[in-house]
Amino acid sequence: MTKAAGKPGTQGLFVSFEGIDGSGKSTQARRLHEGLLAEGRQAVLTREPGGSPGAEEIRALVLQGDPDRWSAETELLLFTAARRDHLERLIRPALAEGKMVICDRFADSSRMYQGLSRGDLRDKVDALHQLMIGTEPDLTFLIDMDPAAGLARAKARATEEERFEDFGVALQERMRAGYLALAEEFPARFIVIDGNRPQDEVAAEIRARLEERCPA
Ligand code: ADP
Ligand code: TYD
Repeated sequence: MTKAAGKPGTQGLFVSFEGIDGSGKSTQARRLHEGLLAEGRQAVLTREPGGSPGAEEIRALVLQGDPDRWSAETELLLFTAARRDHLERLIRPALAEGKMVICDRFADSSRMYQGLSRGDLRDKVDALHQLMIGTEPDLTFLIDMDPAAGLARAKARATEEERFEDFGVALQERMRAGYLALAEEFPARFIVIDGNRPQDEVAAEIRARLEERCPA
């Protein structure tokens, strides 16, 4: 990590957003990106699965269609393949140009979804990550929120990509607890944000916490 992220000639800062479905990750990642650009800082907004042309193709494979289309293991390989392409083609080059990279989900989503909810594959997730990815974000904003409210928000937003979206509140509860445990596992990079508040308040806190860690 470098305090000079966003300035040419230095390595940029890699920031990810994580949380249960509907917690407001995409909204907050976009708002942070817009805010930074308005201040003249160099920042790239991206997402997983996806973020590069090849990874977006894998995204369509993995998020659309029958929920039983892939086993949890195959899914993990697909997410990892997408992540590798994204890292090679977009994330590493942008960081090398000194840009801040703001990523809506990254490897922690595999730790949670493939590692905890879709299969009990955490050891395999970690082994593959070490072998094929290696990189972790410098900072991860975990948007923590009430699982029932998150589910209601996610359901109100209908999309074609619904393979993962309808797992019920019990699973959302488990995922929330899993994410909070992950934040304790990686305390140096996780910042937990209370997402049960109006968007403006959440955005202001994220901006302030980023500034503490990475002054302009
Ligand atoms: P995620 O990317 O975590 O699934 P989104 O950012 O797509 O979540 O938000 C899910 C839905 O909830 C969207 O319709 C969005 O407009 C809405 N939303 C996001 N943040 C808030 C908030 N703080 N309060 C109320 N609604 C919100
Ligand atoms: P997305 O449209 O990004 O959902 P959301 O708006 O809720 O973030 O869909 C991504 C889905 O893919 C989401 O349900 C989580 C899942 N996912 C995994 O299972 N493993 C992963 O490694 C990633 C990046 C996402």
